[in-house]
Amino acid sequence: MSAGDFAEVVLAAGKGTRLKSNLAKVLHRAGGRPLVEHVVLAARELRPQATYVIVGHQADAVRAVVEPRGARCVLQQPQNGTGHALLVARRYLRGVKYALVVPGDAPLIRAETLRALLEAHRRAAQTVGAAATILSAILHNPTGYGRIVRKHDGSVAAIVEEKALTPEQREIREVNSSIYCFTLEKLWPRLSQVRPENVHREIYLTDAIALLDQQGEKVLAEVAPDPHEILGCNTRAELAEVDRLLRHHKRAALMAAGVTIYLPNTVTIDADVQVGTDTVIEPNVQLLGKTRIGANCVIRSGSVITHSLIEDGCEVRQNCVVSATHLGKGVVVGPMAHLRDGADIRAGARVGNYVEVKKSVLHEGVKAMHLTYLGDASVGKNTNVGAGTITCNYDGVRKNPTKIGAKVFVGSGTELVAPVRVGDGAYIAAGSTITEDVPANALGIARGRQTTKPGWAAARRRQLAAAANPRKKKQPRKSKAPKAKKKAKRR
Ligand code: UD1
Ligand code: CA
Repeated sequence: MSAGDFAEVVLAAGKGTRLKSNLAKVLHRAGGRPLVEHVVLAARELRPQATYVIVGHQADAVRAVVEPRGARCVLQQPQNGTGHALLVARRYLRGVKYALVVPGDAPLIRAETLRALLEAHRRAAQTVGAAATILSAILHNPTGYGRIVRKHDGSVAAIVEEKALTPEQREIREVNSSIYCFTLEKLWPRLSQVRPENVHREIYLTDAIALLDQQGEKVLAEVAPDPHEILGCNTRAELAEVDRLLRHHKRAALMAAGVTIYLPNTVTIDADVQVGTDTVIEPNVQLLGKTRIGANCVIRSGSVITHSLIEDGCEVRQNCVVSATHLGKGVVVGPMAHLRDGADIRAGARVGNYVEVKKSVLHEGVKAMHLTYLGDASVGKNTNVGAGTITCNYDGVRKNPTKIGAKVFVGSGTELVAPVRVGDGAYIAAGSTITEDVPANALGIARGRQTTKPGWAAARRRQLAAAANPRKKKQPRKSKAPKAKKKAKRR
C-alpha cells in the first residue's frame, strides 16, 4: 500500500432539483445525519492526503457540516455539472496521483468498498496503465442511472446517461455509481475537452470516459459486491429507502455489540448514538442526535431521547421525552416525563409521571414523582418535591432561579415564585404560594385560612330540591342555609 498518493473529492454542489426542496440535496438527512456527512466520514477512513468537498448550493451550510469532519471545501459557482465540479478542484490536486471521486448523495457507501476500488485501480494503473476505474453496480431497476457500456475485452467504452440511451442500452443493468478512481494526469486533458452537449447544458464527468477510451486509455469497472451501497437520493422515495437501510445497519451493529432491541423495525436510532451492552430497547423508541446510553439500561416503549447522556443502569419508562439531559447512574424516570434543556438528574434521584424538568439540577436522592414543573431550579440532596409543585420561573420578562436545599419537604400543590430560596431541612406547607425565602429548618406556609360551616352543604341541597319542586311541603330548617339563588362566597 502506498498511502498518501491519493486525495478524495466529494461532489456536493448540486441543488437536487428532483427532491423539490428548498434544502440542498446533500443536506437532507438519512440515518440521522446529512447525506454528505456520511460520505465524508466513510472517505476519511481511508486517510487520504486531503478530502475536498465541492460546494455550491447552500455552500455555507454544507461547509458547516463537512469542515468539522476534516474536509476542505472548494466553491463551484455556477454548478455546471459533475465534470465541471471536478475541474474546479484541479488546482488543489496538483501533484496528486490518484483521485477518489464520490458523490455527496450516496451515504450508504462503506470505507471498505472505497478502499477496494482504490486498490483495484492502483493495481490496474501499475499493470495496464489504467486511467480510471469506475465502481459499478448491477441493479434490478437501473432507471435514472448512467449505464456502463463495456467492450468485448470487458473494459469500458462509455457511460451513457439515462436521457441519451439507445433502446439496446436501456436493457443494460450495470450502472455507474458516480464513484470513480482516476489517474489524474490522464484524466485532466480529456476532462478539459468535455463539452456541455446534453439537455442540461452541463459538463458531465461521465463524458470523459468515452473520450479516454477514444484516446486509447484503459477504463475499467469494478462491480460493487452489494448494489445497495451505491444508492443515491435523487427523490424523496429514494431518500426514505436509504434512510431505512442506514437505520437497519445501525440497529444490526448495536445488536451485534450486545444491545437487545425488541421489534427492531419500529426503533429509530441515529448514526451517532452510542449504546452500552445489555441495554434493552423496547418497541417504538427513538434515540436521536448524539445521545449516549450506558450499559444495563432499559428504554421503554415510546420514549424519544435526543442529545442526552444516560449513564449505566437507568430506566426510562414509557413515553418520556428526554432532550439535552443528563441522567446519572441508576436513575429511573417516567412514565410520561419531559426532561429538557439541561435537566441534570443525579444518581439515585427519581422523576415520576407528568413531571417536566427544564435546566434544573436534581441532586442525589431527590424525589419529584407526580405532576410537577421544575424550571431553572436546583434541588438539594434527598429533598421530596410533592405532587403538583410548580416553580414559577418566568415573570413575563425573564427566567428566575429557584434554589431548594437538601432534605427539604415541599408539600403538594406548592408554587415557588422565583427568584426564591428554601434552606436545608425546611418544610413548605401543602398548597403554599411561596414568594419569600424560607430559612433552613423553618416552616413556610402561605395560603388562605380555612372556614368550615357545619351543615351548610346539606341545607343547600334541601333548598335546591325545594326550588325544583315548589308544590312539595317545606321541610323544617335544621341550620342556617345560604339563600337559594345566591352563590356561596368563594375564597
Ligand atoms: C450521476 C451520474 C450518473 C450516475 C449517478 C449515480 C453524471 C452526469 N451522471 O447522475 O451516471 O449513475 O450519478 O448516482 O455524472 N454535483 C456537483 N456539481 C454539479 C452537479 C452535481 O457538485 O454541477 C454533485 C451533486 O451535488 C451530487 C453529485 O454531484 O452530489 C451527483 O450529481 P447528481 O445530479 O445527483 O447526478 P445524477 O443525475 O444522479
Ligand atoms: Ca445522484
